[in-house]
Amino acid sequence: MYGDVSWCPSVTNGKILKPKILITRQVFPEVIDFLSAHAEMDYNAVDEVFTPGVLRKRARDVAGVMCCLTEKIDADFIDHCRQLKVVSNIAVGYNNIDVTACTQRGVIVTNTPGVLDDTTADLTFALLMAAARRVTESEAWLRSGKWEKSFAVQQMLGTDIHHASLGIVGMGRIGQAVAKRAAGFDMTVRYCNRTRLDAATEATLNVSYRSLEALLRESDFVVVMVPYSSATHHLIGAPEIALMKPHAILINTARGGVVDDEALIRALKQNSIAGAGLDVFENEPALNPEFLALKNLVMTPHIGSATRVTRLAMAMLAATNLRAVLTGESPPNWVNCSMPIFAH
Ligand code: GLV
Repeated sequence: MYGDVSWCPSVTNGKILKPKILITRQVFPEVIDFLSAHAEMDYNAVDEVFTPGVLRKRARDVAGVMCCLTEKIDADFIDHCRQLKVVSNIAVGYNNIDVTACTQRGVIVTNTPGVLDDTTADLTFALLMAAARRVTESEAWLRSGKWEKSFAVQQMLGTDIHHASLGIVGMGRIGQAVAKRAAGFDMTVRYCNRTRLDAATEATLNVSYRSLEALLRESDFVVVMVPYSSATHHLIGAPEIALMKPHAILINTARGGVVDDEALIRALKQNSIAGAGLDVFENEPALNPEFLALKNLVMTPHIGSATRVTRLAMAMLAATNLRAVLTGESPPNWVNCSMPIFAH
């Protein structure tokens, strides 16, 4: 319990008053059923992304908001929502939320770590393999009717994945899940991270620690797995891409903005690296149009965790976090719990 339970369901004139919540995007019926027992909800079932003005209006008197990366939760928003106690993000990343502003106003922030690690690692590997073996480029060529000779020795030559070297930038849960997949391809795995893993974990994963610079110089494939923040903005920009091998391939399934899109476009145009696989972009869904013309790029529309099982698990976890706060309990995934204001 964190103390303030005044907005838990209460009884007035014999009627149970449930706390009001806003669910900003379409989720799953199971999640709605689960939450409706605990809250009176405003549900955006049509799934149009709210403008900031609509979001503010719909959230004005709610105790909880369950939202996605599409909703910007900033100080201005929180100041308009005087009843707000919890923002439950359906995502592990929460760079759409000003956590400091929430904390200063006593608003709990939650996220959905853990349940998406393997699914996101799978997609990371799918992009890596597709870029290395030119899968989407080959398919587009085939569909365009250009396949005339059944076989040609030099047709669509790609890059080997097995026995190649992989550099993982950011060795959290998802980075480690990527390393496990790489073991099956006999890859040599190096990683960099704010904190070095303990020796036993390094040995189990068969990975070795490098500086970012060394990792970029030594890797055939570089996978970016760090959360976005001001500290990781353009972590991979022109100087870093310049360190990569000419046959190297860069994969980003973390967040747009960690890679400098313009620098990457320049590198791919000049073939100063061989290719890239991107699931996330700066300013998504507004893509830099130059991406569309690049054959040495594989792109997906932010689907890293998009399997039914995983998205349901994420939405359920977000609902569980929200419900916990609404019933006066500590939510399982409390992002700002260590902030002094919540100390208990
Ligand atoms: C999705 O991008 C997430 O952060 O979960």
